[in-house]
Amino acid sequence: MYEGDIASVLISQEEIETRTAELAESVAKRYPPGAPEGDLLLIGVLKGAIFFMTDFARALSIPTQMEFMAVSSYGSSTSSSGVVRILKDLDKDIAGRHVLIVEDIIDSGLTLSWLLRNLKTRNPASLEVVTLLRKPDAIKIDVEVADVGFDIPNEFVVGYGLDYDERYRDLPYIGTLDPKVYSSGS
Ligand code: XMP
Ligand code: MG
Repeated sequence: MYEGDIASVLISQEEIETRTAELAESVAKRYPPGAPEGDLLLIGVLKGAIFFMTDFARALSIPTQMEFMAVSSYGSSTSSSGVVRILKDLDKDIAGRHVLIVEDIIDSGLTLSWLLRNLKTRNPASLEVVTLLRKPDAIKIDVEVADVGFDIPNEFVVGYGLDYDERYRDLPYIGTLDPKVYSSGS
């Protein structure tokens, strides 16, 4: 699949699976089931977090409910500007609920920082973040993240939900793109 477009496999399918199980164990410990606030509410950030969200939810040993939000940050296709627009908002009120944002990747941190501020105004009982990937060298704003799957180099990555121009989301691993893909257009 995508013959020649992927320069290297950064994180294999097996590594994602193992780390997801570890993250799920660490998160589950913090949310004892039967809380008066109800089941933990996972908020998946579309579209990048789709696969991580579904695998993570199934790895958790506690009951959860799922909601999705889609946001887009103005900027080029490979970098974010911090100006965020809601493309799809939550269907439900999150006031009084324990909420966990499930993110694919924190790059500059601008999108997540905006999202945290936005969701806080809706008065959840608690609000935390789990992200599969983080690029420590790209961070522009400090965001508090309880659980991080992998810290990765400051390179553009695709696969396991992450896209370049809507392609490569369906790869089962995280890989780096061959530079020829950027330069040739599509
Ligand atoms: P910021 O910079 O606001 O970016 O933390 C967050 C959003 O930007 C996208 N993003 C990527 N998408 N490969 C991708 O496919 C990447 O390497 C990458 N880095 C950032 C992503 O949508 C993320 O939620
Ligand atoms: Mg994207």
